[in-house]
Amino acid sequence: MSRHNTLDSDCLSLLINYKTYILDEYIKLKLILHMAGLTGYFGGKNAMSSWIYSNIPKDIKKYIEVFGGSFAIYFNEDFSHCEKIIYNDANKWQANFMASCLDYNKMISKIEESFKSGFLYCDDSISDRKKFYRDLYTKTKNPTISDYYDNSNFSIPDYDNSVIYSFMITSAFNACHARGAGFSGFSSNNKLKITTLLNKLNNKQYQLKLSKISAIENLDFEDIILKYNDKDTYLYLDPPYRYTNGVGTHDQDYGSKNIFGDSSHERLSTILKSSMCRWSLSYYWFDDLEKWYPRDKYYWISKDFNRSSASFSNKTKGTELLIMNYDPKTGIKIND
Ligand SMILES: C[S@@+](CC[C@H](N)C(=O)[O-])C[C@H]1O[C@@H](n2cnc3c(N)ncnc32)[C@H](O)[C@@H]1O
Repeated sequence: MSRHNTLDSDCLSLLINYKTYILDEYIKLKLILHMAGLTGYFGGKNAMSSWIYSNIPKDIKKYIEVFGGSFAIYFNEDFSHCEKIIYNDANKWQANFMASCLDYNKMISKIEESFKSGFLYCDDSISDRKKFYRDLYTKTKNPTISDYYDNSNFSIPDYDNSVIYSFMITSAFNACHARGAGFSGFSSNNKLKITTLLNKLNNKQYQLKLSKISAIENLDFEDIILKYNDKDTYLYLDPPYRYTNGVGTHDQDYGSKNIFGDSSHERLSTILKSSMCRWSLSYYWFDDLEKWYPRDKYYWISKDFNRSSASFSNKTKGTELLIMNYDPKTGIKIND
């Protein structure tokens, strides 16, 4: 081989390596840039993820979202340095949906099959597709017609259940629980919103994120905290709103009073006090927080964010609190 040829092949392999490096960096950058959860979620933290993430120490090994919902912090931010990524939510339908999406190829085919001949099938002879899907949504959320939300007798992962859930959560106004929300299943370009979910499941970056999830759990917060109670574990906690009857910053119920009442908020504070993990906790202010997480013991930070009109009646800005059991500047845990 001549000297020129050797140089050419050296240059070529350098170029290929450089291109691979640039591509890897690009993918990492795209992962770091906001991806958003797979679906919207009522009370979801997409808009606040970078602020919350900037206060999470980087030396953590296990990362858990205890009140996972759409897993917004995980999807928006970079956790590639963690050995284990764990999702938890007590809502069986939501946990089942996340578990099904781990096998994104199967989930994609299940949704596509459903459009061809299953739950989502709409005959060509039907001229008003919008009405068809609105009726399907309204029937499925109506407890006198459908037991979909009452029948928890399924094993995770149940893909057929997840297909219905995908349609319901992407069609519910503000991604609220469908039982309390009107139909908003079409986007402004007249496409069913479930197609956005299909696009995400087909997207390489989402697939990479999904493939890095180690476990999906469907436990009460107390059980998951005790199960992974370890100094290498980091918990991010975003419990349901606390109903404060006008005294605190959240005076609307929207169902949270019935599913997660005062005693659950207090039970959470007791469990967190004795946890070996480092944790951060999102809240809107209410007076008991001062007693449960005294400011002279825990680290408190806050930030103003725009909040959705469905969750707060009259104000456009809300103050997000993040309470931590470690110094966010050093990552060092407080002494209990
Ligand atoms: C405010 S949402 C979390 C939103 C999430 N951070 C996101 O960005 O999408 C609260 C979640 O807590 C879940 N949840 C309610 N009670 C629970 C419990 N006892 N244990 C664990 N999760 C619970 C709800 O199902 C809901 O998904």
